[in-house]
Amino acid sequence: MLSLKKRDLVDALLDGRGGRPSGVGRAFAPVNIALCKYWGKRDSELNLPITSSLSISLAELGAETIVRQIDSDRDIFILNGSEIDPDSDAGRRVVEYLDLVRGDQHGCFRVESQSNVPVAAGVASSAAGFAALALALDDLFGWGLDRRELSIMARLGSGSAARSVYDGFVEWHAGQRADGSDCFAERIDAEWRDLRIALIEISREPKPIGSRPAMARTVETSSLYSGWPQRVAADIVEIRAAISDRDIDRLGSAAESNALSMHATMLDARPPVLYWRPATLVAIEKVWRMRAEGVGVYMTMDAGPNLKLIFEQRNQDRVTEVFPDSKTVAPFGTE
Ligand code: PMV
Repeated sequence: MLSLKKRDLVDALLDGRGGRPSGVGRAFAPVNIALCKYWGKRDSELNLPITSSLSISLAELGAETIVRQIDSDRDIFILNGSEIDPDSDAGRRVVEYLDLVRGDQHGCFRVESQSNVPVAAGVASSAAGFAALALALDDLFGWGLDRRELSIMARLGSGSAARSVYDGFVEWHAGQRADGSDCFAERIDAEWRDLRIALIEISREPKPIGSRPAMARTVETSSLYSGWPQRVAADIVEIRAAISDRDIDRLGSAAESNALSMHATMLDARPPVLYWRPATLVAIEKVWRMRAEGVGVYMTMDAGPNLKLIFEQRNQDRVTEVFPDSKTVAPFGTE
């Protein structure tokens, strides 16, 4: 069932917009990696976070989505060439998202999404998926929403999707309003050509718990969580300053520590939430050993066992030597 709060927010956003479908809508959106994490919601229907967060988008890695209206009594969702069961978690989330824009007159949709994020990269692509779907629907209906509005639309599919409507560094403002109208992401005006993010797969096993219930459990039961909002406020200031100075050590150590702090709140939940595998710790120790050798490489982790490394181009060879199967992305290109 579509909640009234969501309906009101979408009605306010689309108020007076054309809404005439053009046959097909198409869009691409990148995956993003949080340098300062989003962990905990103040409103789970509207995906309103307790804190702001800050991310980097991974350029050409993401989801390309095509959406069209179809004469059918149900939506069809095709992901990487395979039709997704509408009763699966992913299938239900897409149908619920389409309910937001379906209205009375717009029947069913066919959504085809192709992700070019290598499966082995161990990066969840749902943020890119919902951002691409929001952008593709805007293209289909010709709404002409601006980026802030698109960020809000994407957020309704998955919180972190709010950040995937932009390239580069992005800050997602938590906002304060109960209706979520001041909760959107914005691009940070900065380029960092030498910055590199390497993706390291640790495990493909299914996660013990999804990010939604894990977040809720942490907020409800972790006593460490009460310190998290203050921690984020300080880390965002630090990371913004590091970006503005192109200071990799400042950026990397703030991002790494922020990720560890988020995982500490999860460990403190009851029952505990632990995404790490033994191989995660082995990989973290490799990163710390490189640092002890003077290599400026740092790691971050999300709701899963995989690592993302943060470093500059001059350390690429050493990173590849230590992690030969890693996949490196240059978020601002290589030229
Ligand atoms: O947007 P969700 O529900 O997939 O949550 C994402 C949460 C983290 O990836 C752990 C952190 C973040 O800011 O992306």
